[in-house]
Amino acid sequence: MTDIVQLERDLTSAVQAADNERALDDVRVTALGKKGSIAELLKTLGTMSPEERKAKGVLFNGLRDRVAEAIAARKKTLEDSSLDARLASERVDVTLPAPEFPRGTIHPVSQVTDEIVAIFADLGFAVAEGPDVETDDYNFTKLNIPPEHPARQMHDTFYLKPQKDGSRPLLRTHTSPVQVRTMLAQKPPIRIIAPGRTYRHDSDATHSPMFHQVEALVIDEETHLGHLKWLIEEFCKAFFEVPEIAIRLRPSYFPFTEPSMEVDAQCDRSGGALRFGQGGDWLEIAGSGMVHPRVLDMCGIDPKRYQGFAFGFAIDRLAMLKYGAPDIRPFFESDLRWLKHYGFAALDIPTLDAGLSR
Ligand code: DAH
Repeated sequence: MTDIVQLERDLTSAVQAADNERALDDVRVTALGKKGSIAELLKTLGTMSPEERKAKGVLFNGLRDRVAEAIAARKKTLEDSSLDARLASERVDVTLPAPEFPRGTIHPVSQVTDEIVAIFADLGFAVAEGPDVETDDYNFTKLNIPPEHPARQMHDTFYLKPQKDGSRPLLRTHTSPVQVRTMLAQKPPIRIIAPGRTYRHDSDATHSPMFHQVEALVIDEETHLGHLKWLIEEFCKAFFEVPEIAIRLRPSYFPFTEPSMEVDAQCDRSGGALRFGQGGDWLEIAGSGMVHPRVLDMCGIDPKRYQGFAFGFAIDRLAMLKYGAPDIRPFFESDLRWLKHYGFAALDIPTLDAGLSR
């Protein structure tokens, strides 16, 4: 007859000796499995007299429960220590010294774009996007600039290789094709702005072959020039961070608007400084107008029911005016000294309530 005291001792020390979960499971099978030592013991109960069975039954079952408990406890210990080992090996030393100060800065074009988006988002505008490589149709034709139209000459377009079907993709010369994309994709009311890169074959102190524009488009059933002027005024007050500013609309020509206006903002140029919202000087800041009915029609919007307005700013120019950079070329030369001088702190996100530029 098995010495159950010895058996318990053996099993308990085997449990303690198991140093991983697999070894422990082997011990469990040897002890508690169907053919395990304890199962064998329990089987012998059948051959015993009722009194003996009663006495041994208590002993055997007690043994089984204690061994099962020991296994469960060991299992928990092994799990805990493997977790501890993992935590130790994946430990991150957060006390490592950080670099003295963040070196990167936000480029003025990104900063001004964020400022513009914050202002228009507050006025209920969504941000729309389009590709830099555009079709002739969206960049020109659907904006009422058909092939051979003289306005195409004003754009100094970069063309890409002709496609098999004869079409010639181009680098968009303005953000206005995003108007087309938006109108083709959604129904009025429409209120979007579209900031992005634009390209023209032109380079001097105030022109770069790659520059940035932001387009605004509003289409609804009762929009008029008053809304346009109010919106630009609100924008300018927020953007130049002044309480009041006068806006002047001058007649102009764009094929995709009728009437078309150039927008001037009030400023003061005396004393070599440029201050917005005061004085008697004017500075042109945008092109604008009421969207031409033919454009609406070509973009699937009924011009009898809807009308709207649009305007376009050059973002780089706004950045130059607001932050006093006289030349556009260094914007894209990646000179770290320039970027450090004109850049913005990386974590100062422009918001209307915390201040756009601080
Ligand atoms: N796309 C024009 C340009 O690049 C600017 C412009 C003028 C945009 C009038 C407009 C607008 O939306 O209505 O010169």
